[in-house]
Amino acid sequence: MPMTASRFFALIPAAGVGARSGAAIPKQYLPLAGKPMLRHVLETFAASAIISQTFVVVSAEDGYIDSLSGDLLACIIVRNGGATRHASVLNGLLAMRSQVADTDWVLVHDAARPGLTGALIEHLIAALRDDAVGGLLALPLVDTLKRASDDGRVLETVPRAAMWAAQTPQMFRYGLLRRALEQAVEVTDEASAIEVLGLQPKLVEGSPRNLKVTVPHDIALAELYLKGFA
Ligand code: CTP
Ligand code: MG
Repeated sequence: MPMTASRFFALIPAAGVGARSGAAIPKQYLPLAGKPMLRHVLETFAASAIISQTFVVVSAEDGYIDSLSGDLLACIIVRNGGATRHASVLNGLLAMRSQVADTDWVLVHDAARPGLTGALIEHLIAALRDDAVGGLLALPLVDTLKRASDDGRVLETVPRAAMWAAQTPQMFRYGLLRRALEQAVEVTDEASAIEVLGLQPKLVEGSPRNLKVTVPHDIALAELYLKGFA
């Protein structure tokens, strides 16, 4: 047994521009159910007693974060977003290094998933806190999957039985995650970087309410969940 128990930190990449959302401002600042999207996420982590500290990575030019932080100043703002989500997360991990041990856990969560709840955070941590690798929230696919040709015709039906859609948080120990992301190229999530090391992240069932707001249609759907109508 280690002398000190591992702690749990949150790292929120919020340095994207939200091009696919079609909004005039970066989507993480869009008002949803009365509050900016990122504020929903920060409040959820701030309210979670198991999270020691939350770090949020924004772009160096971000002109919105100060207006929403207010009483959320307990979170540490890293003004050093990168050109990709991968680079933003890695910059966040580097900024955390003096406060986090290699064996501490980091929960990386998209700013664009405002439907996360404290119960989902607890569910993820309970499933992984004794795990050798770590893992992620994800949802088993329900639709039949088709592989498309370049001209939009079905090439084949892909067996769905073992297919999951990755969500966040993705939870790995600091030392392993940093090493994985420093070595990886062109990964869109943390789990992929861990997979490159030959390890198998654990899939923990998430929730449809934890959708990522990506295209305009998602904005209204996320708002329904936040208002408790769905
Ligand atoms: N992100 C980031 N740094 C980047 C790109 C993305 O921190 N250079 C963050 C986003 O702010 C978001 C999360 O990563 O919280 C998921 O990325 P995505 O949904 O792709 O957001 P955007 O990149 O902002 O959107 P788009 O791809 O439509 O431009
Ligand atoms: Mg993107």
